[in-house]
Amino acid sequence: MKTETYARVLFAGPDLSHGSFAELTRRQFTEQFGAAVLGDLLDTNAGHDELWARVRECLSSTELPLLVVDLDPLGSSQQLDWLRGELQARAGERADQLFVCAGNAEDVATLAALLQQPEKHLGCVDVPQLPESHAWSCIPPHRYRVLLCNGPRCTRRGALPLWKLLREELKAAGRLETEDGVHITRTQCQFPCDQGPTLSVYPSGEWYRIRDAAEVKRLVQEHFVEERAVPELIMRM
Ligand code: FES
Repeated sequence: MKTETYARVLFAGPDLSHGSFAELTRRQFTEQFGAAVLGDLLDTNAGHDELWARVRECLSSTELPLLVVDLDPLGSSQQLDWLRGELQARAGERADQLFVCAGNAEDVATLAALLQQPEKHLGCVDVPQLPESHAWSCIPPHRYRVLLCNGPRCTRRGALPLWKLLREELKAAGRLETEDGVHITRTQCQFPCDQGPTLSVYPSGEWYRIRDAAEVKRLVQEHFVEERAVPELIMRM
């Protein structure tokens, strides 16, 4: 599709081709922008090759300026900077003709308004670079790898403040990123949602459901300080 500002607008994100989410999104986009927009929806489930190919087409046919809308619901500022960097590398001297923004595929009315606000779009020149050496160059010391579910149902059950408390308790106990301590990794849904908030521990392999601050403190003390599993907090199979 085109707008007053852009010769081409491409929409890139997961689940835009197949499945229930795609069906709904394609219907809403068609109602909002017209059927021709479907040709500008690029599914990234299998990677970004299709997007890069379309960008190359736009560059070679001077269909510019070009706006790429990132529809990934897990997108972030870092992902947007990555996308800008990739587009800059492909566009070379014409990078000043490429722009990106992040949009929500589930709210097409807001998305349509966003397309008309170029002041909210980012160019693909002077993209912030990652420093070559920084504080995140090494694997932190740890004995346990703890996976904290940040999926939608655990979040709805109050997981995020519990995980914040967990980090604080581990740190206070001297067990956060220490030789005998814990390295925390946040995840999306780990699947036993109905028993969540879900926390799993490796390499020992326990799956815990942690529902309040008292259980966080008990887990830290018994599992990570006294180094014994807490059967009362373990999920049923
Ligand atoms: S949302 Fe946490 S296990 Fe599914």
